[in-house]
Amino acid sequence: MKLVIPGGSGQIGTAVSRHFHNAGHQVVVLTRNPRPVPWRVVAWDGITRGDWFLEIDGADAVLNLAGHTVNCRYHPANRRRILESRVESTRIVGEAIAAARNPPPVWLQAATATLYAHRYDAPNDDVTGIPGGQEPDLPDTWRFSLDVARAWEQACLDARTPHTRKVLLRSAMVMTPDVGGVFATLLRLVRFGLGGQVGDGRQFVSWIHEADFLAALEFLMSHPELSGPINLAAPGPLPYTDFMGALRRAWGMPIGLPATRWMLEIGTFLLRTESELVLKSRRVVPRRLTDAGFQFQFPDWSAAATDLCQSVRRRG
Ligand SMILES: NC(=O)c1ccc[n+]([C@@H]2O[C@H](COP(=O)([O-])OP(=O)(O)OC[C@H]3O[C@@H](n4cnc5c(N)ncnc54)[C@H](OP(=O)(O)O)[C@@H]3O)[C@@H](O)[C@H]2O)c1
Repeated sequence: MKLVIPGGSGQIGTAVSRHFHNAGHQVVVLTRNPRPVPWRVVAWDGITRGDWFLEIDGADAVLNLAGHTVNCRYHPANRRRILESRVESTRIVGEAIAAARNPPPVWLQAATATLYAHRYDAPNDDVTGIPGGQEPDLPDTWRFSLDVARAWEQACLDARTPHTRKVLLRSAMVMTPDVGGVFATLLRLVRFGLGGQVGDGRQFVSWIHEADFLAALEFLMSHPELSGPINLAAPGPLPYTDFMGALRRAWGMPIGLPATRWMLEIGTFLLRTESELVLKSRRVVPRRLTDAGFQFQFPDWSAAATDLCQSVRRRG
């Protein structure tokens, strides 16, 4: 199989490329900064057509992961980068697929579980979930993330690619043991003794283990009846306090100091990131995947956290 991954040089793209390359598939990553890796890398700019269009023609699958990092402060310049990099790259990937003489049968498009409403009462699945935006007192940064999530999906839906199945990957945080990933950030908090309650601690955390994320991609590629939005999240989201408690136990860290909301706002300002990541209640569960027969290897966070901690320790 030939898999083309625009934006495949980052955290998720590296894990996906490694997985499919090691399984004997042909992986081609599209990047603005080509660097030597064990799989093929082709230059693109994420905005304009170029020789990279030829890579998409005849490919078996496209997985578009391109987008400016959301791990930054949401000032006007970064907001523009976050939004435009997603909408523009999705638009041009759509053009490449539309122009292909032999279009790929499936286009997996990164999207985000952030699209759903901040809620505690019930989980958001991909059939009945409530989109965010109507919650009272929604912080401006959260509203911005919702606008991005919607515009990103719309850019994919707008593409005229009648011979290609589109799948919108509404993914929760993907937990990999790799350096620089979101799990590494959470583990660093725990190791510094800061893995306690944040805010009121009731906000839900949705997550998915790397192994399940990769297996879900394979499942989606081989199930032509599945298209449109698909939640990629373990069936067991849990409140932040329980989530961090399980991670502390998995790592063997006895203490976890709490942080109030204002301490967190100062801390995230100093770290040049946004507090939305830990304060928004992301209660997102899979439904379409599990209804189609997908089985999670890591449905529960305790086992997933133990496995990830073991991988980090093995790596040293
Ligand atoms: N990580 C998660 O848990 C998670 C969860 C839900 C959704 N997502 C989404 O999934 C995608 C991949 O996540 P990730 O964690 O792998 O992100 P990442 O590590 O930040 O990688 C994203 C890639 O996008 C490319 N990129 C950045 N700015 C760009 C621009 N202006 N134009 C074109 N390409 C650009 C970069 O590649 P080059 O610099 O090499 O061109 C980068 O390697 C992202 O869009 C993210 O929002 C991630």
